Amino acid sequence: GSAGAKAGKSRDILEKMDESGKNCVVFYGSQTGTAEDYATRLAKEGSSRFGLKTMTADLEEYDYENLDKFPEDKVAMFVLATYGEGEPTDNAVEFYEFIGGEDVSFSEKGGAEEKPLSSLRYVAFGLGNNTYEHYNLMVRNVTKYLDRLGANRVGEAGEGDDGAGTMEEDFLAWKEPMWTALAESMNLEEREAVYEPTFEVTEKPDMDSSDDTVYLGEPNKNHLEGHSKGPYNAHNPYIAPIAESKELFNDEKRNCLHMEIDISGSNLSYTTGDHVAVWPTNAGREVDRFLNMINLGDKKDTVIVAKGLDATSKVPFPSPTTYDAVARYHIEICAPVSRQFVASLAQFAPNETIKAEMTRLGGDKEAFAKEVAKKHFNIAQFLEYMSEGKPWDKVPFTIFIESLNKIQPRYYSISSSSLVQKNKISITAVVESVEIPGAAHVVKGVTTNYLLALKQKQHGASNPDPHGLNYAITGPRNKYDGIHVPVHVRHSNFKLPSDPSKPIIMIGPGTGVAPFRGFVQERAQMAKDGETVGKSILFFGCRKSTEDFLYQDEWKEYQSALGENFELVTAFSRETAKKVYVQHRLKERAAEINELLEQKAYFYVCGDAANMAREVNEVLAQIICEQRGVSKQKAEEIVKTMRASNAYQEDVWS
Ligand code: 2AM
Repeated sequence: GSAGAKAGKSRDILEKMDESGKNCVVFYGSQTGTAEDYATRLAKEGSSRFGLKTMTADLEEYDYENLDKFPEDKVAMFVLATYGEGEPTDNAVEFYEFIGGEDVSFSEKGGAEEKPLSSLRYVAFGLGNNTYEHYNLMVRNVTKYLDRLGANRVGEAGEGDDGAGTMEEDFLAWKEPMWTALAESMNLEEREAVYEPTFEVTEKPDMDSSDDTVYLGEPNKNHLEGHSKGPYNAHNPYIAPIAESKELFNDEKRNCLHMEIDISGSNLSYTTGDHVAVWPTNAGREVDRFLNMINLGDKKDTVIVAKGLDATSKVPFPSPTTYDAVARYHIEICAPVSRQFVASLAQFAPNETIKAEMTRLGGDKEAFAKEVAKKHFNIAQFLEYMSEGKPWDKVPFTIFIESLNKIQPRYYSISSSSLVQKNKISITAVVESVEIPGAAHVVKGVTTNYLLALKQKQHGASNPDPHGLNYAITGPRNKYDGIHVPVHVRHSNFKLPSDPSKPIIMIGPGTGVAPFRGFVQERAQMAKDGETVGKSILFFGCRKSTEDFLYQDEWKEYQSALGENFELVTAFSRETAKKVYVQHRLKERAAEINELLEQKAYFYVCGDAANMAREVNEVLAQIICEQRGVSKQKAEEIVKTMRASNAYQEDVWS
């Protein structure tokens, strides 16, 4: 439809590719941005190694009725994340429904043609998590649908596993044979990878960083101009006041934060069980390390303008801005450095010895794992290690913006009830600080340490920055009174039963207890309001009753509101010689748990996906098997059915 297309942005991918001279489009279905980052990397690699004319495309931004006219000499790549319990990411819903639809019909060939997509050459990679039942369902189904429609897949579809923590290596292992097959299929010649920038960064020495047109971390124009407005979402955070913050642990070495985030007047809303997204800031210490290592330390406040070199490349931050703001607010400089990036930086090494070393590490999976990944170097720490601290002055800044991931908001399970406090969101977050054996540094979680710094500032601590992380507390321009944090809300399916009289069983060790504080708070309020509330049993685990027993005093209040309808079962893992975990306690209550399930109880698990959630799932199947005298296989089926009908819900993370 040309009339409509002229008025707005064209939704015709073929037209777009034609106009911009592209022969390779990398579509992405992305929720949190990871799939988008992989798509960007594929596009870059296609152009630098094989001379493809590449672009990336958000699946949501195009229509697919003319895919049957996809030119034979081009290629489409699909990078598809599977979200939650086998769902498409929000931006892929329409595409997924279209391509998998019973009566999918294309503009020309329509339903008459048996193989309407016979001219479409494609490759596919999926991002999934094997701790979920429907592992990589998106990529599996999309390839199935495309193949059914006669499209030509080149190579095998790849599957990356976030659950096993092997996403990056899965991706690398998939893409090499894919490139070989694609090169053969399209007659491409591989060349020595030459860096071809997609962006151009220009310094503006005549501008001052304090000019009010310069972005110092503001995510968009409204924020820059001081009148941010809703709707607040993943593209536009609300700068929320922190009404209250406190420490929950009684432990000199570890911190756990409770924060109350005030969303009144923002039009943001949440319901119990939702997630709050926190927009992080990199620590000043790491920003400085990074800029110094790439020889931009002296120029950190120089104003720069970044732009895409063609119409399809989008710079991931607004400009004019400064090097400091880009490093602090927009690119993920604290993440572990990737092997592929090491390989592509080799050409900019300060000398031949380092270049050879970089090439070796970039090309050798085992060596990289042992010498680099194990030490959890971020990019600047890695460069420091390679050159013994001497700055690298030959690397173009654009390669960092193109190759490092864009900073993504971090999601936390809301720990309050919207019935009790609809304008205040509680967060419960343990501050991450990991000592790496054999490395000279401690890995500090970016966002939780930022929140800790905010809390300490709020409390006027004499030394608000004991670790020298040097976070910018007041935000870009110090425009707000008090302590603030940029947030938005993500709605989830992790919900209490709509009928409050239904029993619930909650398993939440550590900060996995967060949503259950909300659940119990809500049910206590309902009871106070005179509603009939079903049995609510919470399994909580921590190290010691004296150290990290979260909300120890609050449970007593909820107890008095709910009476015998509430029970807290604790598992303290470090008080006895033998570890006691929540799943052991669950097992001890087998008969009662089974009885509750027979009364149609809802079963909830929150926390660590890799071990805890998996083991709880197994224990539940064992309970059903023993209590009902059914086979192990039958018990597992029952658990699966519970999951499918939402009687078993998970909010888990790796
Ligand atoms: P641990 O650290 O003493 O091993 C919150 O982190 C609690 O969860 C701690 O008591 C921790 O015990 C416990 N935990 C660790 N691994 C677990 C697992 N696989 N299943 C259940 N709980 C676990």
